[in-house]
Amino acid sequence: MAILTIVQHPSGILEQKCEQVTEFETELHQLLDDMYETMIAADGVGLAAPQIGIRKQIAVIEVDEEEGRLELINPKIVGRNGEQTDIEGCLSFPGLYGTVSRFYTITVKAKNRYGEDFTLTADEYLARVIQHEMDHLNGVLFTSKIIDYIDEEDLESSEDE
Ligand code: CO
Repeated sequence: MAILTIVQHPSGILEQKCEQVTEFETELHQLLDDMYETMIAADGVGLAAPQIGIRKQIAVIEVDEEEGRLELINPKIVGRNGEQTDIEGCLSFPGLYGTVSRFYTITVKAKNRYGEDFTLTADEYLARVIQHEMDHLNGVLFTSKIIDYIDEEDLESSEDE
């Protein structure tokens, strides 16, 4: 496995729509493992492929060890409900934090690393991280949704997406 370089803002690839994944072979599995390692090394809870310079609809997420690693390929939101507003950061924007409103609950349909469909319903923090990562796959950055910027010194702890 390898730790990849995280693309930082400003970079054109962060604002482009990603392409669907069509091959679910060893190359994809290696990429997913490398993305996971990179995310953990950066102390992040989510990482999307454009953040490592790859314009494909791939995201890895791990909000805590108990919840485990989540891999989303070609994800689509098929259900949404409610609203939540909380602080977000992003591995492509070191030191930048702000409050963002998201759906409280979402249902996502995606493919796993073997190309099999699965459906997941998430709420609260996990739902927030999934929405942040899915925005990356559409070239949408959290800075376009920030309601209030938060000073880094005011944060008790921060996790980046
Ligand atoms: Co991000």
